[in-house]
Amino acid sequence: MRIDVVTLFPGLVRECVSVGVVGRAQKRGLLQVYTWNPRDHTHDPHRTVDATSYGGGPGMVMMIEPLRRTLAAVSGAAAEPAHVVYLSPQGARLTQDKVVALAGLPRITLLCGRYEGVDERVLAHAVDEEVSIGDYVLSGGELAAAVVIDALGRLQEGALNDARSALEDSFSDGLLDCPHYAKPVHDAWGSVPEVLLSGDHAAIARWRRQQALGRTWLRRPDLLAGRDLDAGSQALLDAFRLNHAKASDGEN
Ligand code: ADE
Repeated sequence: MRIDVVTLFPGLVRECVSVGVVGRAQKRGLLQVYTWNPRDHTHDPHRTVDATSYGGGPGMVMMIEPLRRTLAAVSGAAAEPAHVVYLSPQGARLTQDKVVALAGLPRITLLCGRYEGVDERVLAHAVDEEVSIGDYVLSGGELAAAVVIDALGRLQEGALNDARSALEDSFSDGLLDCPHYAKPVHDAWGSVPEVLLSGDHAAIARWRRQQALGRTWLRRPDLLAGRDLDAGSQALLDAFRLNHAKASDGEN
């Protein structure tokens, strides 16, 4: 997959995506990340990319022309048309379903705003969708772009050393992930649940599913609302809730 990032801070984006799984995906040739600075597509000595906002008020707005030229250069750099995503708190909230959909495209362009954002006409004419990484405001789209690249990069085939990791991620089944444990079995901070040491793979799978359901019910009930669980999952969740109620009663 190819990702082009239009940003006034190319170094920031490149640094963020140069390590770990996503850095390795690039070294393996599974992901190509290119950065484009709109300042390189200006024609004035000050390399101006922003101007005051019509109507007044604080903050500057990124102008059309440098962005139009930059996006034209991006578009001409490869044969496939790129799906253009603008990172902004006004966008649709990023979900794992959206990540999976974007990760399946051959090419996307991420447009990062700074200041008060970009001229609205850029959004209307050159952007396919706006994406937000959460209900808070960052000082620019670069960190959001790095989040998107990380989430997409790890899903590229061959990026994870064990592809099962992606299947077991939180949200991959609309549920939060179950707890995980490593050495030692016994520690001053507690012991590893016995079932995980049993070697009984069916029992382990059942326990993990139950923990995923239970955690989702406790922490993110919104993910379960309106969802029809199959009878087996419902029974696991009911048992979890019963245990949870008993444990809470014991505490009081
Ligand atoms: N730019 C500024 N804030 C943002 C957010 N929450 N998500 C995506 N891009 C942003």
